[in-house]
Amino acid sequence: MELNIALLPGDGIGPEVIDQAVKVVDAISEKFGHQVNWTSALTGAAAIDAVGDPYPESTHAICMAADAILFGAIGHPRYDNDPKAPVRPEQGLLKMRKKLGLFANVRPTFTFPSLIDNSPLKRERIEGTDLIILRELTGGIYFGERGRKDNGETAFDTCTYTREEVQRLAKLGFEMAMSRRKKLCCVDKANVLESSRLWRETVQDMEKDFPEVEVSYEFVDAVAMRLVQWPSSYDVLITENLFGDILTDEASVISGSMGLMPSASIGIHTSLFEPIHGSYPQAAGKDIANPLATVLSAAMMFEDAFGLKEEAALIRAIVNKSLTEGIVTEDLAGSNKAYKTSEVGDWLVANIGLPDLIVS
Ligand code: IPM
Ligand code: MN
Repeated sequence: MELNIALLPGDGIGPEVIDQAVKVVDAISEKFGHQVNWTSALTGAAAIDAVGDPYPESTHAICMAADAILFGAIGHPRYDNDPKAPVRPEQGLLKMRKKLGLFANVRPTFTFPSLIDNSPLKRERIEGTDLIILRELTGGIYFGERGRKDNGETAFDTCTYTREEVQRLAKLGFEMAMSRRKKLCCVDKANVLESSRLWRETVQDMEKDFPEVEVSYEFVDAVAMRLVQWPSSYDVLITENLFGDILTDEASVISGSMGLMPSASIGIHTSLFEPIHGSYPQAAGKDIANPLATVLSAAMMFEDAFGLKEEAALIRAIVNKSLTEGIVTEDLAGSNKAYKTSEVGDWLVANIGLPDLIVS
């Protein structure tokens, strides 16, 4: 199969972790006889420096023409403490989501048996956790009307949703639940917010189309609590943009490392796959960042964008093997030897060729 992939390394550690994912994708493709055509493009601070736009038209054209996008990270400290910066790297991410119609962000949270004690949460609370947060990504307060009034002394951001926006996200949630444990939780703040009441009403109307799915409705503050108390009780959670942003960071703690969690953004045009961590500027260029979240994002890409399940399973098996054998970067090494980003990548590639790997 021919795989046309747009490669957006972005800022900070993005290029380093992306390099490892590229090595793994190339090795897997060679093993399974696929032809990969990579096309690199600029985003984030790197694109602002080069052309003054964090998501230039040339990058959008490359993304639109590709079958999938593999993305590193966006963000640079130069912009973080300057609320008046006229153009910011993150705007590139938002523009990209909007222009590609990526209305759903899929963030799985699961535990790795060999790393369960890395989590700050107790083993008995998190064992068996396997949940997906499906976050709405192109609406809500992120994209609502905002501004200043009263000579700049008052600021406002508004959260707006249409029924259709809720429906398309919820439909994905119901379908995902059907392919899993058939449980769906709609996370909202319907006791206060009108937009949340529209979410709840819309999801309730859709229940009849998915009679096998057991649906619960929970307030976001209660979910924030239950996520760390009893995460294994959840299967698929659907929620609006800002609640999802917050809950997905919280959920990443369960797995024990932000450096492990992949994500996919899907919608109208080309799907995008990226690690959930940021650009980690302090580590940029040091060859110490954990590349596994990006490698696992590539596994999601094989499965979701190309329907290549065996390839995805092999990547996951090799990643698991690296974790159990302690071939890990400093964030996971503890008092054991810490491997470099590029060494982990090389080890993964070398192990793809080994015949004894059991793919489950
Ligand atoms: C994320 C990030 C982004 C968001 C930022 C960088 C704009 O935190 O992907 O979760 O808030 O959506
Ligand atoms: Mn976030």
